Amino acid sequence: MSSTTHYTDLGLVNTREMFKKAMDGKYAVPAYNFNNMEQLQGIVLGCVESRSPVILQVSGSARQYADQTFLKYMAMGAVQMAKEHGADIPIALHLDHGDSFELARSCIDSGFSSVMLDGSHHPFEENAKRTKQVVDYAHERDVTVEGELGVLAGVEDEVSHEVSHYTKPEEVEEFLEKTGVDSLAISIGTSHGAYKFKVKPGEEVPALRFDILEEIAKRTPGFPIVLHGASTVVPEYVEMINRYGGKMDNAVGNPEAQLRRAAGSAVCKVNIDSDGRLAMTAVIRKIFAENPSEFDPRKYLGPAREELIKMVKHKNENVLGSAGKA
Ligand code: G3H
Ligand code: 13P
Ligand code: ZN
Repeated sequence: MSSTTHYTDLGLVNTREMFKKAMDGKYAVPAYNFNNMEQLQGIVLGCVESRSPVILQVSGSARQYADQTFLKYMAMGAVQMAKEHGADIPIALHLDHGDSFELARSCIDSGFSSVMLDGSHHPFEENAKRTKQVVDYAHERDVTVEGELGVLAGVEDEVSHEVSHYTKPEEVEEFLEKTGVDSLAISIGTSHGAYKFKVKPGEEVPALRFDILEEIAKRTPGFPIVLHGASTVVPEYVEMINRYGGKMDNAVGNPEAQLRRAAGSAVCKVNIDSDGRLAMTAVIRKIFAENPSEFDPRKYLGPAREELIKMVKHKNENVLGSAGKA
């Protein structure tokens, strides 16, 4: 294999066709973050078993953690594993929250089929300029690009924001024209991490701003929208973590009903990282608490991977509607 690898050599696809089908079929493609083998296997097997297309998503720091060369072969292994399990599901490898042209280019050159340039913390013109530079490089290689307008609260890789700024619908068309992006992440009230809303016990979380989403969809018919910060922060996992020695007070996420509604709209990609982390951590904590003498990683990472498969299937079948669409 040459030092530059095109994603088609790894058996991957870009997101164009996936999003077209998701838009027409009124469902959303799941984008699950991973950084190790058990996460990757759990995600892929969950999507194989539910026959769902999938976007495997890696942040810049996750790529460093896993090692960029190793990651390439992990993605190739994931494609082969899916086939050996009898499911030729569409698999994309995507850079999540890319913060520079150099990082996006390096990912594209090492086999990514899709990249995000997150210039959302820059002023509009600067964001558009940086995004366009990535689009030009990516499109020459048939790699798809996600941009972002509006700022989510919480931690986005190394960048953290105290407050969110909703996307301004009136800016969207100009951004699409100036950049040529293939999809756009917007801010409508979701945020990253496990503490999405400050609510007292028993209080309902505030509704997402579907009015903003609808206004954007009206102005850009058929254009794929991306929802970041879309974990539900599964209460059962939070409870399990707290029961077995963890401390995640007031962790709260998006109700499933709101995500279901979003998936049936112009939202074609739904980003989930925190829920996968919670599922694995909950199981591992339980095993350690109940078997303090256990020290074989397979005995706790194996069950954690099984739980992730269950969680992925549940999301695809009952929240995103992507099950059976591969
Ligand atoms: O949006 C951020 C993702 O959850 C990635 O998180 O930078 O810790 O890998 P990370
Ligand atoms: P969560 O923290 O809600 O899982 O969001 C993940 C995300 O948006 C990755 O880009
Ligand atoms: Zn994100």
